[in-house]
Amino acid sequence: MTVLDGNLVAKQIKDEIRRAIAGYAVKPKLVVILVGENPASKVYVGMKDKACAEIGFASEKLVLPASASEAELLALIDRLNADDTVDGILCQLPLPKQIREHQVLERISPQKDVDCFHPMNVGYLATGNPFVKPCTPAGVIEIMKRYQINLSGAHAVVVGRSNIVGKPLAQLLLAEHATVTICHSRTKDLAAVCRSADILCAAIGKPEMVQGDWIKDGAVVIDVGVNRVDDATNPRGYKLVGDVDYAAAAKRASYLTPVPGGIGPMTIAMLMQNTLELHKRRCG
Ligand code: GUN
Repeated sequence: MTVLDGNLVAKQIKDEIRRAIAGYAVKPKLVVILVGENPASKVYVGMKDKACAEIGFASEKLVLPASASEAELLALIDRLNADDTVDGILCQLPLPKQIREHQVLERISPQKDVDCFHPMNVGYLATGNPFVKPCTPAGVIEIMKRYQINLSGAHAVVVGRSNIVGKPLAQLLLAEHATVTICHSRTKDLAAVCRSADILCAAIGKPEMVQGDWIKDGAVVIDVGVNRVDDATNPRGYKLVGDVDYAAAAKRASYLTPVPGGIGPMTIAMLMQNTLELHKRRCG
Protein backbone atom coordinates (compact mmCIF):
# COMPACT_ATOMS: atom_id res chain seq x y z
CA MET A 1 0.00 0.00 0.00
CA THR A 2 1.28 3.44 -0.94
CA VAL A 3 0.32 6.45 1.17
CA LEU A 4 -0.68 9.39 -1.04
CA ASP A 5 1.35 12.12 0.66
CA GLY A 6 -0.63 15.34 0.34
CA ASN A 7 1.89 17.35 2.34
CA LEU A 8 4.68 16.36 -0.05
CA VAL A 9 2.75 16.96 -3.28
CA ALA A 10 1.25 20.23 -2.00
CA LYS A 11 4.74 21.46 -1.18
CA GLN A 12 5.93 20.59 -4.69
CA ILE A 13 3.01 22.53 -6.21
CA LYS A 14 3.57 25.54 -3.95
CA ASP A 15 7.29 25.52 -4.86
CA GLU A 16 6.34 25.47 -8.56
CA ILE A 17 4.04 28.46 -8.04
CA ARG A 18 6.68 30.35 -6.04
CA ARG A 19 9.12 29.90 -8.93
CA ALA A 20 6.48 30.88 -11.49
CA ILE A 21 5.77 34.23 -9.85
CA ALA A 22 9.37 35.08 -8.92
CA GLY A 23 9.66 37.66 -11.72
CA TYR A 24 6.21 39.19 -11.28
CA ALA A 25 6.20 42.91 -10.50
CA VAL A 26 2.63 42.60 -9.18
CA LYS A 27 1.96 39.52 -7.05
CA PRO A 28 -1.36 37.67 -7.18
CA LYS A 29 -3.70 38.67 -4.35
CA LEU A 30 -6.25 36.53 -2.53
CA VAL A 31 -8.84 37.89 -0.10
CA VAL A 32 -10.43 35.43 2.31
CA ILE A 33 -13.62 36.38 4.15
CA LEU A 34 -14.60 34.71 7.40
CA VAL A 35 -18.00 35.41 8.92
CA GLY A 36 -18.39 34.38 12.55
CA GLU A 37 -16.50 32.06 14.84
CA ASN A 38 -16.74 28.53 13.42
CA PRO A 39 -13.59 26.93 14.91
CA ALA A 40 -12.79 24.74 11.89
CA SER A 41 -13.35 27.67 9.51
CA LYS A 42 -10.97 29.82 11.55
CA VAL A 43 -8.28 27.15 11.17
CA TYR A 44 -8.86 26.79 7.41
CA VAL A 45 -8.80 30.55 6.82
CA GLY A 46 -5.57 30.83 8.81
CA MET A 47 -4.01 28.06 6.69
CA LYS A 48 -5.02 29.79 3.46
CA ASP A 49 -3.54 33.08 4.62
CA LYS A 50 -0.32 31.33 5.69
CA ALA A 51 0.03 29.56 2.34
CA CYS A 52 -0.20 32.91 0.54
CA ALA A 53 2.57 34.32 2.73
CA GLU A 54 4.81 31.27 2.12
CA ILE A 55 4.42 31.49 -1.64
CA GLY A 56 4.76 35.25 -1.89
CA PHE A 57 1.17 36.12 -2.79
CA ALA A 58 -0.47 39.18 -1.35
CA SER A 59 -3.37 38.27 0.90
CA GLU A 60 -5.91 39.79 3.18
CA LYS A 61 -8.11 38.13 5.77
CA LEU A 62 -11.38 39.96 6.47
CA VAL A 63 -13.42 38.92 9.48
CA LEU A 64 -17.06 39.87 9.99
CA PRO A 65 -18.96 39.16 13.23
CA ALA A 66 -21.37 36.22 13.38
CA SER A 67 -24.18 38.80 13.56
CA ALA A 68 -23.23 40.39 10.21
CA SER A 69 -26.13 40.91 7.83
CA GLU A 70 -26.31 39.56 4.31
CA ALA A 71 -26.36 43.16 3.03
CA GLU A 72 -23.08 43.92 4.83
CA LEU A 73 -21.39 40.88 3.34
CA LEU A 74 -22.70 41.64 -0.15
CA ALA A 75 -21.46 45.24 0.14
CA LEU A 76 -18.01 43.93 1.10
CA ILE A 77 -18.01 41.58 -1.90
CA ASP A 78 -19.04 44.46 -4.20
CA ARG A 79 -16.09 46.48 -2.94
CA LEU A 80 -13.67 43.58 -3.54
CA ASN A 81 -15.14 42.88 -7.00
CA ALA A 82 -14.40 46.50 -7.93
CA ASP A 83 -10.89 46.49 -6.39
CA ASP A 84 -8.41 46.04 -9.20
CA THR A 85 -5.66 44.80 -6.84
CA VAL A 86 -7.75 41.73 -5.85
CA ASP A 87 -7.47 38.58 -8.01
CA GLY A 88 -9.36 36.05 -5.92
CA ILE A 89 -12.19 36.28 -3.39
CA LEU A 90 -13.06 33.37 -1.12
CA CYS A 91 -15.92 33.44 1.36
CA GLN A 92 -15.41 30.60 3.82
CA LEU A 93 -18.43 28.32 4.25
CA PRO A 94 -20.60 27.61 6.18
CA LEU A 95 -22.18 31.04 6.71
CA PRO A 96 -24.36 32.06 9.66
CA LYS A 97 -28.01 31.21 9.06
CA GLN A 98 -29.22 34.78 8.45
CA ILE A 99 -27.06 34.88 5.31
CA ARG A 100 -28.18 33.07 2.17
CA GLU A 101 -25.27 31.13 0.70
CA HIS A 102 -26.55 31.31 -2.88
CA GLN A 103 -26.83 35.11 -2.78
CA VAL A 104 -23.24 35.38 -1.61
CA LEU A 105 -21.71 32.88 -4.02
CA GLU A 106 -23.55 34.48 -6.96
CA ARG A 107 -22.32 37.94 -5.95
CA ILE A 108 -18.61 37.09 -6.19
CA SER A 109 -17.47 38.02 -9.69
CA PRO A 110 -16.94 34.84 -11.75
CA GLN A 111 -13.55 36.31 -12.72
CA LYS A 112 -12.52 36.38 -9.04
CA ASP A 113 -14.24 33.15 -7.95
CA VAL A 114 -11.24 31.10 -6.70
CA ASP A 115 -13.53 28.41 -5.28
CA CYS A 116 -15.37 27.84 -8.59
CA PHE A 117 -18.69 28.11 -6.72
CA HIS A 118 -20.40 30.74 -8.94
CA PRO A 119 -23.14 29.11 -11.06
CA MET A 120 -21.43 30.36 -14.21
CA ASN A 121 -18.19 28.62 -13.29
CA VAL A 122 -20.10 25.52 -12.16
CA GLY A 123 -21.67 25.57 -15.63
CA TYR A 124 -18.27 25.84 -17.31
CA LEU A 125 -17.13 22.88 -15.21
CA ALA A 126 -20.17 20.81 -16.20
CA THR A 127 -19.70 21.61 -19.89
CA GLY A 128 -16.00 20.79 -19.78
CA ASN A 129 -14.50 24.27 -20.22
CA PRO A 130 -13.55 25.50 -16.75
CA PHE A 131 -10.89 28.20 -16.23
CA VAL A 132 -10.67 27.30 -12.55
CA LYS A 133 -11.65 24.05 -10.87
CA PRO A 134 -13.03 23.68 -7.34
CA CYS A 135 -10.09 23.33 -4.96
CA THR A 136 -10.83 20.11 -3.06
CA PRO A 137 -11.95 18.06 -6.09
CA ALA A 138 -9.03 19.46 -8.12
CA GLY A 139 -6.71 18.38 -5.30
CA VAL A 140 -8.11 14.84 -5.44
CA ILE A 141 -7.46 14.59 -9.18
CA GLU A 142 -4.03 16.23 -8.97
CA ILE A 143 -2.67 13.93 -6.25
CA MET A 144 -3.75 10.86 -8.25
CA LYS A 145 -2.09 12.27 -11.38
CA ARG A 146 1.15 12.96 -9.55
CA TYR A 147 1.22 9.30 -8.42
CA GLN A 148 0.43 8.25 -12.00
CA ILE A 149 -2.83 6.55 -11.09
CA ASN A 150 -4.81 5.74 -14.21
CA LEU A 151 -8.36 7.10 -14.14
CA SER A 152 -9.44 6.32 -17.69
CA GLY A 153 -12.08 3.59 -17.69
CA ALA A 154 -11.82 3.07 -13.92
CA HIS A 155 -14.99 2.80 -11.85
CA ALA A 156 -14.90 5.79 -9.49
CA VAL A 157 -17.41 5.83 -6.65
CA VAL A 158 -17.96 9.16 -4.92
CA VAL A 159 -19.74 8.96 -1.58
CA GLY A 160 -21.32 12.35 -0.87
CA ARG A 161 -23.18 14.80 -3.13
CA SER A 162 -22.26 18.23 -1.75
CA ASN A 163 -21.79 21.23 -4.02
CA ILE A 164 -18.29 21.71 -2.56
CA VAL A 165 -16.93 18.19 -3.08
CA GLY A 166 -19.16 15.33 -4.26
CA LYS A 167 -20.85 16.87 -7.30
CA PRO A 168 -17.83 18.73 -8.74
CA LEU A 169 -15.53 15.76 -8.01
CA ALA A 170 -17.83 13.56 -10.07
CA GLN A 171 -17.54 16.08 -12.94
CA LEU A 172 -13.74 16.10 -12.81
CA LEU A 173 -13.54 12.28 -12.65
CA LEU A 174 -15.83 12.12 -15.66
CA ALA A 175 -13.59 14.55 -17.51
CA GLU A 176 -10.72 12.12 -16.79
CA HIS A 177 -12.77 9.37 -18.46
CA ALA A 178 -13.66 7.47 -15.29
CA THR A 179 -17.02 5.73 -15.02
CA VAL A 180 -18.61 7.59 -12.12
CA THR A 181 -21.18 6.59 -9.52
CA ILE A 182 -22.37 9.14 -6.95
CA CYS A 183 -23.71 7.69 -3.68
CA HIS A 184 -25.40 9.37 -0.73
CA SER A 185 -27.42 8.71 2.40
CA ARG A 186 -30.32 7.15 0.46
CA THR A 187 -28.16 4.81 -1.64
CA LYS A 188 -29.24 1.19 -1.31
CA ASP A 189 -26.51 -1.20 -0.16
CA LEU A 190 -23.83 1.46 -0.03
CA ALA A 191 -21.20 -1.08 1.07
CA ALA A 192 -21.75 -3.17 -2.07
CA VAL A 193 -21.52 -0.14 -4.36
CA CYS A 194 -18.29 0.92 -2.63
CA ARG A 195 -16.89 -2.61 -3.05
CA SER A 196 -17.31 -2.22 -6.81
CA ALA A 197 -15.04 0.85 -6.87
CA ASP A 198 -11.58 0.93 -8.40
CA ILE A 199 -11.33 4.45 -6.99
CA LEU A 200 -13.33 5.16 -3.85
CA CYS A 201 -13.72 8.79 -2.78
CA ALA A 202 -15.30 9.42 0.61
CA ALA A 203 -16.72 12.92 1.14
CA ILE A 204 -19.46 12.24 3.65
CA GLY A 205 -18.49 14.03 6.85
CA LYS A 206 -19.03 10.99 9.11
CA PRO A 207 -16.00 9.81 11.09
CA GLU A 208 -14.62 6.46 9.89
CA MET A 209 -17.88 5.45 8.24
CA VAL A 210 -16.22 3.60 5.37
CA GLN A 211 -15.24 0.17 6.69
CA GLY A 212 -12.42 -2.09 5.55
CA ASP A 213 -14.82 -4.60 3.99
CA TRP A 214 -16.34 -1.83 1.81
CA ILE A 215 -13.06 -1.68 -0.09
CA LYS A 216 -12.11 -3.87 -3.03
CA ASP A 217 -8.62 -5.37 -2.83
CA GLY A 218 -6.23 -3.03 -4.62
CA ALA A 219 -8.63 -0.07 -4.78
CA VAL A 220 -7.44 3.54 -4.59
CA VAL A 221 -9.03 5.15 -1.54
CA ILE A 222 -9.32 8.94 -1.28
CA ASP A 223 -10.52 10.24 2.09
CA VAL A 224 -11.83 13.80 1.86
CA GLY A 225 -13.36 13.80 5.35
CA VAL A 226 -11.97 15.94 8.16
CA ASN A 227 -13.87 15.15 11.36
CA ARG A 228 -13.13 16.29 14.88
CA VAL A 229 -13.66 13.52 17.41
CA ASP A 230 -13.17 13.80 21.18
CA ASP A 231 -9.77 12.59 22.38
CA ALA A 232 -8.86 13.15 26.01
CA THR A 233 -5.24 12.11 25.34
CA ASN A 234 -4.79 14.99 22.89
CA PRO A 235 -3.86 18.42 24.33
CA ARG A 236 -6.53 20.03 22.11
CA GLY A 237 -9.16 17.61 23.47
CA TYR A 238 -9.93 16.28 19.98
CA LYS A 239 -8.26 14.57 17.08
CA LEU A 240 -8.92 14.64 13.35
CA VAL A 241 -10.12 11.51 11.57
CA GLY A 242 -11.33 10.95 8.05
CA ASP A 243 -14.47 9.34 6.66
CA VAL A 244 -12.57 6.07 6.20
CA ASP A 245 -11.39 3.58 8.84
CA TYR A 246 -7.73 4.14 7.95
CA ALA A 247 -6.17 1.08 9.62
CA ALA A 248 -8.70 -1.27 8.04
CA ALA A 249 -8.45 0.43 4.63
CA ALA A 250 -4.64 0.17 4.70
CA LYS A 251 -4.96 -3.63 4.61
CA ARG A 252 -6.93 -3.58 1.33
CA ALA A 253 -6.14 -0.43 -0.62
CA SER A 254 -3.32 -0.03 -3.17
CA TYR A 255 -3.17 3.75 -2.51
CA LEU A 256 -4.66 5.63 0.42
CA THR A 257 -4.76 9.27 1.57
CA PRO A 258 -4.15 9.93 5.28
CA VAL A 259 -6.11 12.39 7.43
CA PRO A 260 -4.56 14.81 8.18
CA GLY A 261 -1.90 15.19 5.49
CA GLY A 262 -3.83 13.95 2.46
CA ILE A 263 -6.43 16.01 0.62
CA GLY A 264 -6.39 18.95 3.10
CA PRO A 265 -3.02 20.35 2.00
CA MET A 266 -3.87 19.59 -1.64
CA THR A 267 -6.96 21.82 -1.35
CA ILE A 268 -4.79 24.73 -0.24
CA ALA A 269 -2.27 24.11 -3.03
CA MET A 270 -5.08 24.14 -5.60
CA LEU A 271 -6.42 27.38 -4.10
CA MET A 272 -3.00 28.92 -4.68
CA GLN A 273 -2.99 27.60 -8.25
CA ASN A 274 -6.45 29.08 -8.89
CA THR A 275 -5.37 32.44 -7.47
CA LEU A 276 -2.42 32.46 -9.88
CA GLU A 277 -4.67 31.43 -12.78
CA LEU A 278 -7.17 34.23 -12.08
CA HIS A 279 -4.32 36.74 -11.75
CA LYS A 280 -2.92 35.70 -15.12
CA ARG A 281 -6.34 35.96 -16.77
CA ARG A 282 -6.97 39.42 -15.38
CA CYS A 283 -3.48 40.85 -15.82
CA GLY A 284 -2.40 39.04 -18.99
N1 GUN B 1 -15.74 25.25 3.53
C1 GUN B 1 -15.27 23.99 3.46
N2 GUN B 1 -14.54 23.83 2.33
C2 GUN B 1 -14.54 25.02 1.71
C3 GUN B 1 -13.96 25.48 0.48
O1 GUN B 1 -13.28 24.76 -0.26
N3 GUN B 1 -14.18 26.79 0.18
C4 GUN B 1 -14.93 27.60 0.96
N4 GUN B 1 -15.11 28.86 0.56
N5 GUN B 1 -15.50 27.20 2.09
C5 GUN B 1 -15.29 25.91 2.44
